[in-house]
Amino acid sequence: MIISVIGSGYVGLVSGACFADFGHEVICVDKATDKIAKLQAGEIPIYEPGLDALVESNCAAGRLSFTTDLQEAVAKADVVFIAVGTPSRRGDGHADLSYVYAASKEIAAAMNGYTVVVTKSTVPVGTGDEVERIIAETNPEAAFDVVSNPEFLREGAAIDDFKRPDRIVVGTDVARARDVMSEVYRPLYLNQSPLVFTSRRTSELIKYAANAFLAMKITFINEIADLSEAVGANVQDVARGIGLDNRIGSKFLHAGPGYGGSCFPKDTLALVKTAQDNSSPVRLIETTCSINDQRKRSMAKKVVAALSGDVRAKKIAVLGLTFKPNTDDMRDSPALSIVQALQDHGAQVHAYDPEGMESAAELMENVHFGADAYSVCEGASAVVIVTEWNAFRALDFGRLKESLAAPIMVDLRNIYRREELEKHGFQYHCVGRPDQEIR
Ligand code: UGA
Repeated sequence: MIISVIGSGYVGLVSGACFADFGHEVICVDKATDKIAKLQAGEIPIYEPGLDALVESNCAAGRLSFTTDLQEAVAKADVVFIAVGTPSRRGDGHADLSYVYAASKEIAAAMNGYTVVVTKSTVPVGTGDEVERIIAETNPEAAFDVVSNPEFLREGAAIDDFKRPDRIVVGTDVARARDVMSEVYRPLYLNQSPLVFTSRRTSELIKYAANAFLAMKITFINEIADLSEAVGANVQDVARGIGLDNRIGSKFLHAGPGYGGSCFPKDTLALVKTAQDNSSPVRLIETTCSINDQRKRSMAKKVVAALSGDVRAKKIAVLGLTFKPNTDDMRDSPALSIVQALQDHGAQVHAYDPEGMESAAELMENVHFGADAYSVCEGASAVVIVTEWNAFRALDFGRLKESLAAPIMVDLRNIYRREELEKHGFQYHCVGRPDQEIR
């Protein structure tokens, strides 16, 4: 099977490398000549654990290649995946589909023989219909089907998610296209990953519904965390107590500073817009979006409170900037709002992140970036853990205390136990686990 992937961003690159690893011949296409040149030279433009080795081995085996020549890549292909970006359109939150439609036109002009065109980019319900219309209009002779096949990859765990998915969703009513897609995913099917066939619109909605549900689940536990603080309960025990119920499930019940990243904030907003446009509002998701926005900024209040209400001219050390560990992605990271709010309160922010500082420097002003966790804590009035990188999970408390001007830790990811920190003489503040649990 020859597969072309249009768009060598995060999704395109991971999918392309994994399809090649299944044994397919894969050609990844991108318009950005510098990106393709780098990939051809073996350089990976994003940080994703394991991706470099996967790209290297599949290129060496001759199954994976990179090009800017869409025409040639599409002409050869049995299946063409569209994996271009769908950013939030400025102003209204709708997904911007201009890249998807532009790619569809180019694909239409280049197709040669029966081709299955698959939207892997996250696209609103009905986009497949428009892609089909564009291709038929651009190339009336073309033999093709348009299929929806959303991705459910998590950054930082994308390769594992791709190779061991909970399910693969394929949206098409056409038997021929269904057979081709079964062939594409045959290696996973043999691993017993369920292939869920649906109509195209249903498949498009599944993607948004999945992300919106997860965002809602996180927001739910975040509100329960606030309530736990108010009533003297422990949110981690609540999460365990409800999560063991199979109907609820234990995942995505970690309270924290709010969800971020390139998917949940954008996709929840796009779903709200689609629902409004179709006069069928999704009020739970509307509320989820607004609670999460407020939450990110309000986390700074926890820090201010930990410093007795005043952070003016005080140095605050922030550990972790990316929206989650194992990525260099800063998009919609809670750190952006937290740092800004601390600065608005007059604090001087010093920060360290294992992978995200380069992108953070483009998005943040007046932040001093340090070389490691301990150096940013030097003389700081408090240390705030914003992202739960492994490197912060086993800090040397003695060394940390020596560096800090005051032994105050605000742990927004609940990675430590209060007793442990207090034993080392720290004042410890966290999320949803009050100082005094009322027994
Ligand atoms: C998310 C989904 O998990 C993927 O299934 C989906 O494919 C992807 O979006 C996408 O649409 O492309 P991702 O954004 O990479 O993946 O990251 P997650 O691991 O889902 O985390 C998202 C945010 O939620 C992070 O800010 C994380 O810190 C936060 N989170 C997650 C919590 O605050 N608590 C939790 O219990 C879990």
